[in-house]
Amino acid sequence: MSQLDIDHVSLYLGQGSQRFLALQDISLSVAAGEFVCLLGPSGCGKSTLLGALAGHLRATQGSLSLAGQTIQGPSPERGLVFQHHTLFPWLNVIDNVAYGLKMRGIAKPERHQRARELLEQVGLAGFEERFPSQLSGGMQQRVEIARVLINQPRVLLMDEPFGALDALTRLKMQELLVDLWTRLRTTVVFVTHDIDEALFLADRILVMSPRPGRIIDELSLTEHRPRRHEVLTTPAFSRLKRHCLDLLRHPDTTLPLDRLSPLGMAPELSAERLRFAV
Ligand SMILES: Nc1ncnc2c1ncn2[C@@H]1O[C@H](COP(=O)(O)OP(=O)(O)OP(=O)(O)O)[C@@H](O)[C@H]1O
Ligand SMILES: [Mg+2]
Repeated sequence: MSQLDIDHVSLYLGQGSQRFLALQDISLSVAAGEFVCLLGPSGCGKSTLLGALAGHLRATQGSLSLAGQTIQGPSPERGLVFQHHTLFPWLNVIDNVAYGLKMRGIAKPERHQRARELLEQVGLAGFEERFPSQLSGGMQQRVEIARVLINQPRVLLMDEPFGALDALTRLKMQELLVDLWTRLRTTVVFVTHDIDEALFLADRILVMSPRPGRIIDELSLTEHRPRRHEVLTTPAFSRLKRHCLDLLRHPDTTLPLDRLSPLGMAPELSAERLRFAV
C-alpha cells in the first residue's frame, strides 16, 4: 500500500521575471516502510521536492499526500534531517533529543527515558550530558536523527544528511541508518547526489533530470538486502553505477540499462529483479 503519494506535482520558484519551473510533473508513490533515494545533479530540485513533502513549499500544480491526507504544512509526522544539524546549542544532548516530547507536554522522567533509549540506538549512550559543540560532526548527526525519531514520524525526509561528513564517518552513518531503518521500518525519502550512497541505501532509486526536475529513471533494488559496502564493487552494482553516472551526465541520451549489457545482468542482480522505467 502506498503511504506517500506525489501526484503530477509541478512547482515554480522565484518571483516575477525570476520565476522558473523547478519541478515538472512529478508523480511517485512510496510504500510504507520503503527506503527511496532521490538521486540527481546539483540544482535539479531535490531539496525543492523534499521541501514540498515537508510542507514548507506549496506545489503550484498537483498534490502531495501522506496516508491519504493532503500535505498542507510542516508536521512532526514528517521528520526532516538536513546536511547541518538543527540542535539547540544551549541544550545538552538528552534535552535536545527530548525536545519534541517536551513540546507535547510529556513529563521529564518519561521524555528522558525515551531519549535515552533512542540515544542508545544511535550509539550515543553515555553522551547525554554533552553539548552539541562537544560532539564530532557524525555524533551531531546521530543526535539529530534521534531528535527527529523521538516524534515517531511516519516518514523520515533526509536531505544529504551525511554530505558534510568525512568519507569514513559517512559510510558508518549509512550503516547506522540502514540498521535503524531495519529495526524501525520507518519510510525514508533520502536525497543525495552520491551514486554509491544511493546504491547502498535504497530499495528504489529515482533519478532526476537537471532543472526542471523530472523523474527520468527508476531502479528497484528491493531484494538485494542485507547489503554491505563491498557489494558496490561487484560487477552488477558497477554496471548500475555506470548507468546512473550516464544518466546524471547525459540525462536525455542514455540507453536503457539492459542494453548496456549484451550478456545480461549478473546472476545476483537479474533483470527480473530490476524494474526500469524512463
Ligand atoms: N528560494 C528560491 N528562489 C529561487 N530559486 C531557488 C530557490 N531555492 C532554490 N532555488 C533554485 O532552484 C533550483 C532547485 O534547487 P534545489 O535546492 O531544490 O536543488 P538541489 O537538487 O537540492 O541541489 P543541490 O544538490 O545543490 O542541493 C536551483 O536552480 C536553485 O538555484
Ligand atoms: Mg539540495
